[in-house]
Amino acid sequence: MTKVKQKAIAKAKLMPKARFITFEGGEGVGKSTQAKRLVNSLKNKAIMAVRTREPGGTPKAEAIRSFILQGKSESWGAGAEAILFASARLDHVNELIAPNLKKGTWVISDRFLDSTRAYQGLTGGVNDTLISALEELALNDNNPDLTILLDMDPKKAFQRMRTRDADKSLAGEVDRFEKENLDWHIKLRENFIKIANNNTKRFVIISADKSEEDLAKAIWQAVVSKFPELKEEKKT
Ligand SMILES: Nc1ncnc2c1ncn2[C@@H]1O[C@H](COP(=O)(O)OP(=O)(O)O)[C@@H](O)[C@H]1O
Ligand SMILES: [Mg+2]
Repeated sequence: MTKVKQKAIAKAKLMPKARFITFEGGEGVGKSTQAKRLVNSLKNKAIMAVRTREPGGTPKAEAIRSFILQGKSESWGAGAEAILFASARLDHVNELIAPNLKKGTWVISDRFLDSTRAYQGLTGGVNDTLISALEELALNDNNPDLTILLDMDPKKAFQRMRTRDADKSLAGEVDRFEKENLDWHIKLRENFIKIANNNTKRFVIISADKSEEDLAKAIWQAVVSKFPELKEEKKT
């Protein structure tokens, strides 16, 4: 074996195994903010990490994202939407998630499969058999190692969203799901909790009703407690 190869193997042994972490929850709970922060925290520990999102993440999947979120698929019904999301996910997994994990880069996704189960399945009425079959098809054995459910009262989350939209002068460009009423979002929150309770090994539920900083700390604690090998990594 060459010295270069030996060095690469020794380095790989020191690095913790690349993990796949997903953020889930309703609109405005802080998923995008915290996904960004988690990637930065990992990079501060000299761990390679990429942030991605669903729907989307790859050019083909982003094309499907635009189609759905602009409301063009609404008249097709939740079943067709679930199939479209799964098609996008298949490309996302094969082109971005699996290759990154394989080369040792942690993948942090802002939403993933549980959003399809919560939105189109439990809230949209698509039956469990179809949702489960689509999950299996799109995942191709790339299940998340950890899913962080950010949970909070949708009323408060809406308040945050209004600030966000005002920030970016996006007021008026409300997407396909953001325009659903409060009762719909309350149901969605309950459904996410149901999914978490059915997958307790993979999920942690964290109350998102705290400052950005405090929430980032709670998330980091949950990540380290799930992957204790992170404790041994030195800060650069
Ligand atoms: N912990 C927090 N407290 C208050 N506002 C927050 C917090 N986290 C995020 N925000 C703000 O709330 C809005 C929604 O956050 P975002 O991360 O986009 O949520 P999501 O991706 O879950 O929809 C943004 O304007 C963001 O700056
Ligand atoms: Mg977001």
